Amino acid sequence: MNWREFWNGTHSIYVNERHRTLHYDRIAKDIAALIPSADACVVDYGCGEAESAELVARRCAMLYLYDSAPNVQARLRLRFGRNDRIVVLSTEALEAMTDHSLDVFVANSVIQYLTHKEFEALLDLARRKLKTTGMLVVADVIPETANFIDDTRALLGFATRGGFLLTALTGLAATMFSEYRKLRHEIGLTRYAEEDIETLFAAHLYRAERSSTNIGHNQSRMMFVARPL
Ligand SMILES: C[S@@+](CC[C@H](N)C(=O)[O-])C[C@H]1O[C@@H](n2cnc3c(N)ncnc32)[C@H](O)[C@@H]1O
Repeated sequence: MNWREFWNGTHSIYVNERHRTLHYDRIAKDIAALIPSADACVVDYGCGEAESAELVARRCAMLYLYDSAPNVQARLRLRFGRNDRIVVLSTEALEAMTDHSLDVFVANSVIQYLTHKEFEALLDLARRKLKTTGMLVVADVIPETANFIDDTRALLGFATRGGFLLTALTGLAATMFSEYRKLRHEIGLTRYAEEDIETLFAAHLYRAERSSTNIGHNQSRMMFVARPL
């Protein structure tokens, strides 16, 4: 199994429904806060189930959701098919979007599942689709120095605030034996040193800055806001 197959299958990375709901709610609120104006066109790339996408859609003119996993795409279409401010994109439709038509392109918690080469292709795709005044937000980037303890501490803090600490502790034990853990061990997650990712942004013609906060609950991970040069 690889990461693509993992995300297309059934997995239990959320310890319970409350975790899942609070996760998507937090992500949507954080993305919404980045939108510069009500007439913005926004892509959420690698959006996952995007359960609270309506919160984002209310803050912009059009929200495009894209995830490469066919089963995720199908569920997104069922969930948001009737929302006239949300469009679920296929890979072909994303490629075919009018160049320089987007204000915001967000990829949250995605690039750790991509090779460096795939991330570079993503940088080029986003640059082609963004307006010259647009911005690319790459968030939840795992720093080279990250460790299991940082992720665990962040999850337990989120669980304590969200009232699901006991389930999170049980969930953590289950994670040890999960497919996710196995893949993390076998294939790994792509990590970046801050200087290296900044070099990549510059090589693909962006001026990027690390933000002081990250999207989502894990503030030990990094977020970058990059603007086309
Ligand atoms: C950890 S989830 C993040 C979902 C969502 N962005 C969030 O923050 O909750 C990673 C998502 O990235 C998607 N993904 C992985 N590789 C991708 C790729 N090459 N292109 C688009 N989506 C991808 C997976 O299908 C999965 O839904």
